[in-house]
Amino acid sequence: MPASASASHSLGAELKADPAIASAIDTIVERVAERSAQITDVRPAREGASESYEALMKRAAATKGRDLLYPYIGSGLGNGALVELADGSVKWDMISGIGVNFFGHSHPEIVRAQVESSLEDTTKHGNLLSGFEAYRFAETLLAEAQKNSRLSQAFITTSGAMANESAIKVCYQKNAPASRVLAFRNCFMGRSVTMCQIGDSAGGRQGIPLTTQVDYMPFWNEEAAAKLGGKKAFIDHARWRLEQYIERYPGMHACFIFELVQGEGGFNTAPREFFVELMEICRAKGIAIWDDEIQSFGRLPRMFAYEQYDLGDYVDVFCVGKMTQACATLYTDEYAPKPGLLSGTFTGATSEFTVGTRIIEMLRDGDYYGDTGLIAKHHDAFRRLSKAMMDKHPDWFPKVPFYPENPGGIGGMMRFTPFGGDRAKIQAACKACFEEGVVLFYCGHGPYHMRMLPPLGVMKLEDWPRVFDRIEAALARVASR
Ligand SMILES: Cc1ncc(COP(=O)(O)O)c(C=O)c1O
Repeated sequence: MPASASASHSLGAELKADPAIASAIDTIVERVAERSAQITDVRPAREGASESYEALMKRAAATKGRDLLYPYIGSGLGNGALVELADGSVKWDMISGIGVNFFGHSHPEIVRAQVESSLEDTTKHGNLLSGFEAYRFAETLLAEAQKNSRLSQAFITTSGAMANESAIKVCYQKNAPASRVLAFRNCFMGRSVTMCQIGDSAGGRQGIPLTTQVDYMPFWNEEAAAKLGGKKAFIDHARWRLEQYIERYPGMHACFIFELVQGEGGFNTAPREFFVELMEICRAKGIAIWDDEIQSFGRLPRMFAYEQYDLGDYVDVFCVGKMTQACATLYTDEYAPKPGLLSGTFTGATSEFTVGTRIIEMLRDGDYYGDTGLIAKHHDAFRRLSKAMMDKHPDWFPKVPFYPENPGGIGGMMRFTPFGGDRAKIQAACKACFEEGVVLFYCGHGPYHMRMLPPLGVMKLEDWPRVFDRIEAALARVASR
């Protein structure tokens, strides 16, 4: 039961502690587990299901005004990394709702947290009036964040884009009247009017008036560094570029947005020294260091990307979302906003807080992190199997200029690049994987990569060969066209 219930003296607390309710919840969790255990492998749709499934998809497409990207409508049940669709078919979920379902499908702890949350008198909590669960979520997140950073306060919100909107406001207010933003090539920050202007994708801001002033910096690239004369030469060049912007617009940069491991941009990483050089300049110039970990949080070999790169002391403002269910902007005391800057009707639904809190606890208490943690082990298994596939089919994997690392990524952010990263072929390969029973997606802006954000919280190491057998079958189909 949530701590808030046992800590108070109320009828609400009595209700949550009612043994009949506790036993009903146990029954629900057990029944879900019984059904979930029947899902053991990929399978096709059940006989006779296709017609009603087609009808469901048509209804879904009608509401959106266009076809679904994948013919995916979940049944509401799964088992670990396996998910059942509404037609009874079962697939490996290697993208987890683009990084949301790190503990997979029908996890007993998550089912329990969701059912417990259904006892609340309201569905949503707000900034004005709230039960304690929103604060418990913030407390749990801050306790982890504070282990290796100066982040001290949290604003809870409903999406990654809104967390980033709040972050940019905090940076603007502290550094007013500075109005410019520094960002990396290939960054992604969400779909709001401001965030789509900063995100480095022309398609994402088509038709949107450009009102945000963004200066783009090169992101680390191994091959470009080699061409320039090595790591130091690349870093010196980046520093020179940053200094030019600062000189051109003195005192006008409110923040530099660091996506330490780029997500949508292609699972790109950089050496610590690259970030340190740029962060030192920002710190000296009073430019806020804003760390967007909405995609990377929880799935690297350390819980926070700033821990992975030992950069926690530099971070002024930080955003998290996706696997935490509820989203949040964290900041240091120095960057705490004035009253009135951040608010909004909703902080979120109770289940987002009970589940989000439980997820952070499970990450904290499990064996996921460190050089020999589960996330590192899964990454090794991914690399071993994708390399084996590449050795077996070298013609599917021509060298991609500027992206020599294949497979690539870090921790639970995994990518590999067949067919030279050609967009149409990568999309065809994603579709073929879906048909073969593996749900994954692509990332990058050219080259395009096959991308996995697997539910490593529940995936077993022995699942990997089963997943790769199907990926290989899918790529063979695309290669033979
Ligand atoms: C790094 C990063 N920032 C922000 C966002 C936006 O989050 P949301 O889609 O929840 O608004 C995303 C989503 O993919 C992301 O990867």
